[in-house]
Amino acid sequence: MYNRACVACHAGQLPMAPKPGDRAVWAPRLSQGMDTLVQHVTQGFKAMPPRGLCMDCSSEDYRAIIQWMSE
Ligand code: HEC
Repeated sequence: MYNRACVACHAGQLPMAPKPGDRAVWAPRLSQGMDTLVQHVTQGFKAMPPRGLCMDCSSEDYRAIIQWMSE
């Protein structure tokens, strides 16, 4: 799912979008709490469009992708 939607921005194309595995960049974001992060993806957040362009992702999917990206 990451490779279908999130990769378009989160693999380095958009400098503001935190990259997978970049723990230092993810740490302050994670400190907002997983629920907030999932909400931000669902509703859109600054330069990120609503749902992160994944129209069929569930909250559980977002949770899993965020977990994976932040490790
Ligand atoms: C069109 C580009 C784009 C796509 C597609 C995209 N993102 Fe993002 N995302 C961004 C940008 C840009 C930011 C940084 C926003 C900022 O803080 O300025 C971001 C930030 C985030 C954050 C941190 C939000 C916060 O509160 O700090 C999470 C979590 C996230 N994205 C998850 C995802 C997931 C999961 C997907 C795929 C389902 C996805 N994104 C797809 C552009 C994108």
